[in-house]
Amino acid sequence: MQDIERVDRCRVCGRDDWLDIISFGSAPLANGLLDPAADDADEQAYPLDVALCRECGLMSLRHIVNPEKLFRYFVWVSSDSALMTRHRQRVFGWCAEKSGMAAGDLVVEMGSNVGTQLALFQERGLRTVGVDPARNLARIANDRGVETVADFFGPEVTASIRETHGAAKLVMGHQCFAHIDDVHNVLDGVDRVLAPDGTLVIEVPYVLDLLDENQFDTIYHEHLSYYSLTTLSRLFASHGLPVVDVERADVHGGSIVVFAAREGSGRRPSARVADLLALEERRGLTTARPYLEFADRTRRTIDAIGDVVRGLAAEGKRIAGYGAPSKGSTLLQMCGLTPAEVQFCSDTTSFKQGKLLPGSRIPIRSPEQARAQAPDYYLLLAWNYAEEIIAKEQAFLDAGGRFIVPIPQPRIVDSALTASA
Ligand code: TMP
Ligand code: ZN
Repeated sequence: MQDIERVDRCRVCGRDDWLDIISFGSAPLANGLLDPAADDADEQAYPLDVALCRECGLMSLRHIVNPEKLFRYFVWVSSDSALMTRHRQRVFGWCAEKSGMAAGDLVVEMGSNVGTQLALFQERGLRTVGVDPARNLARIANDRGVETVADFFGPEVTASIRETHGAAKLVMGHQCFAHIDDVHNVLDGVDRVLAPDGTLVIEVPYVLDLLDENQFDTIYHEHLSYYSLTTLSRLFASHGLPVVDVERADVHGGSIVVFAAREGSGRRPSARVADLLALEERRGLTTARPYLEFADRTRRTIDAIGDVVRGLAAEGKRIAGYGAPSKGSTLLQMCGLTPAEVQFCSDTTSFKQGKLLPGSRIPIRSPEQARAQAPDYYLLLAWNYAEEIIAKEQAFLDAGGRFIVPIPQPRIVDSALTASA
């Protein structure tokens, strides 16, 4: 395929009935960190337009960037933060409780990254195989003893896993399903390897939380789909995999973990499924209104963040970004912020340090370097870890430092943890 293609038909329902929601113009890839030596190089930018399928309610990007370009070498490594470590334990607990898995059963994970989640299943005696297209990450996973196939998940890969390892009691995917264009091929892949009494577990960012919290910065080229349970249920059911349970989780700004089983397995959906579908109905998620309102709020929030940061910079305040996540790169660009206002971003990831963020070209420094040049304000780009970060940075707050929390509306947090607009 070309580097970028326009989406014609909805990847879930196949209809071509789109309503434009919001356009962010063109942007470089959020994870395309630059070498300072290549500072003057032209960056390739791709359109970032969002639309809603009027038939099935899928919110989607209108363009897809070639997955070979996005995912063969991938820089996002699953986080070892306290929040994510707790979450992985909780996911393990849910899987055990809802799938009836036992030691010796096979667990297959798509988008398994460096194998952090699977390692936990291995420790509890399950057999595991990961699949991830990123060759750099698959190598790390294999080196740590988590068997990982460096490929895109699909029927060929899973047929071969089934041949060598047997059928899987659990097939799971955490924070990768929304990156996938050909979801039908992936679900055919699930069908090839899932045992008759197996469970499919898919975790995606939840579109209702995205809308409610104005998480516009989570919209970038890697994130093709923004799912509701209503739309996911329809998709899974069309592959003979009715949803049987769902949990909400406070990761990545709010996510849903959706459990599906084979038709004919006799499993009845839990009350949580009906409750969440009813909530989505009440909130009008299959109508255009909440998405169009989100687009309006987003335009205002982007202006408000820019105004707050530019206002403080004009007063001579020193401002740095806290974290250099993909969504931070997106937010800085959408708000038109540059090194003139945000001098650097502090990030714990060693290979990001010394690079420049795409678009805004703001340099990334280590937390040690950041502490030596502590700014007056940190713009909290890694807002999904707000609680953990604010607790960790008490000394910065006690010394008079402040955080600018950008969403849902920009607000300033000081040592008294009082917020002001
Ligand atoms: P993520 O939300 O995509 O996992 O990215 C979070 C980024 O924030 C990641 O690059 C690591 C960085 N980070 C810090 O620099 N300090 C922290 O305390 C935490 C939790 C994350
Ligand atoms: Zn659709």
